[in-house]
Amino acid sequence: MEGKKGLKIVTIGGGSSYTPELIEGFIKRYDELPIRELWLVDIDRGKEKLEIVGNLAKRMVKKAGVPIDIHLTLNRKEALKDADFVTTQFRVGLLDARKKDEEIPLKYNVIGQETNGPGGLLKGLRTIPVILEICRDIEELCPNAWLINFTNPAGMVTEAILRHSSITKVVGLCNVPIGMKMKIAEMLGVEQSRVHVQFAGLNHMVFGLDVFLDGVSIKEKVLKEMGNPENAMTMKNIAGVAWDSDFLQALNAIPCGYHRYYYKTDEMLAEEIRASQEEGTRAEVVKELEKDLFELYKDENLSIKPPQLEKRGGAYYSDAACSLIHSIYTDKGDIQPVNTRNNGAIASIPYDSAVEVNCAITKDGPKPIAVGDLPVHVRGLVSSIKSFEITAAEAAVSGDYKKALLAMTINPLVPSDTIAKKILDEMLEAHRENLPQFFDSVEA
Ligand code: G6P
Repeated sequence: MEGKKGLKIVTIGGGSSYTPELIEGFIKRYDELPIRELWLVDIDRGKEKLEIVGNLAKRMVKKAGVPIDIHLTLNRKEALKDADFVTTQFRVGLLDARKKDEEIPLKYNVIGQETNGPGGLLKGLRTIPVILEICRDIEELCPNAWLINFTNPAGMVTEAILRHSSITKVVGLCNVPIGMKMKIAEMLGVEQSRVHVQFAGLNHMVFGLDVFLDGVSIKEKVLKEMGNPENAMTMKNIAGVAWDSDFLQALNAIPCGYHRYYYKTDEMLAEEIRASQEEGTRAEVVKELEKDLFELYKDENLSIKPPQLEKRGGAYYSDAACSLIHSIYTDKGDIQPVNTRNNGAIASIPYDSAVEVNCAITKDGPKPIAVGDLPVHVRGLVSSIKSFEITAAEAAVSGDYKKALLAMTINPLVPSDTIAKKILDEMLEAHRENLPQFFDSVEA
């Protein structure tokens, strides 16, 4: 990173509607994070979006008066050459694939969600081979770069990179912890900087084991407040079904929005079925939001991130991304919740597995802060999800049908091997074009 006049950052999936978030974050931090070049990369099918969002990005940096050169390309290898940081935010099969992940399981009365249950598995099967290809390109073209992945399912993807590539400089990132912290601060009516949350668990399965205001634990108060349906704390993409206050007290840890799929499965399923019949699944809602966003982005007079982007579940993810990149670059040593190799931070999770936990962020990457262990009553669920992620990653890499069936069956949201098989068969077929590892060898 030294010896050059600034950093080279490459964003794969650069045509994403979320990109203006990232640009805004880089602009805000320009003085401490001198980016020389930002390469936005996309695939042929994403060309139009890349151009629209890329031109907005150019207008944003111009208006802000920061000398970041923005390059738009469909050539990933050209972009990756000598990069310092590579961020990934792509969706294999685009929103149409997400719609299938959300809809098909509902036919079997199983949760249909993009990162949990069958949807999470199929998204992983489509995404992991692509991210591993990107890892091979990184090894060849920018072996010293940090890979910062936001691509979902981010936990499973990080697990796959740690186990099935030789890349070690990888961090998985999510906006859920930052969102939880923001909501807690809002609920208490205090500045975010006064709140500290002890995060531990897995991606989309993270708990706040404790919460502090000015260094004093306020966990009980937060749990009490969360029991109030008006403070249910959720994300834009997750129905805010109210928590039971007795359950929260007993849990004695702050759940994330996604825990509702596990602790309130029947209510969430009923809500998903209702939504799919009325406004459509989240993919359909997001398709409409995206249409509106891209219309706004096309406006030559727009040169800031439009506030409408905050309707997306991933709002504020750039804060997490830019803070992380900044802390690695400056060896800051501050504490941030990220996905990284456990290294014993959580006792009941394998050493070499990905966890989402508070880390000190240094120039050598995240150093996880040990929590001892998770409370016994959440350990089982977290371990089940970890086993699911490991098995799913193996299925994605090998294209082994039996492994995929195993992963589907051990997922806690799937009731039996019989239903697992039906869902898997239908979903594999529905996603056939993006799952060459399961079909090509048979046809060859
Ligand atoms: C949450 C998750 C992200 C996810 C997003 C979906 O914030 O943390 O991992 O990508 O929501 O939001 P969307 O607006 O696409 O439904």
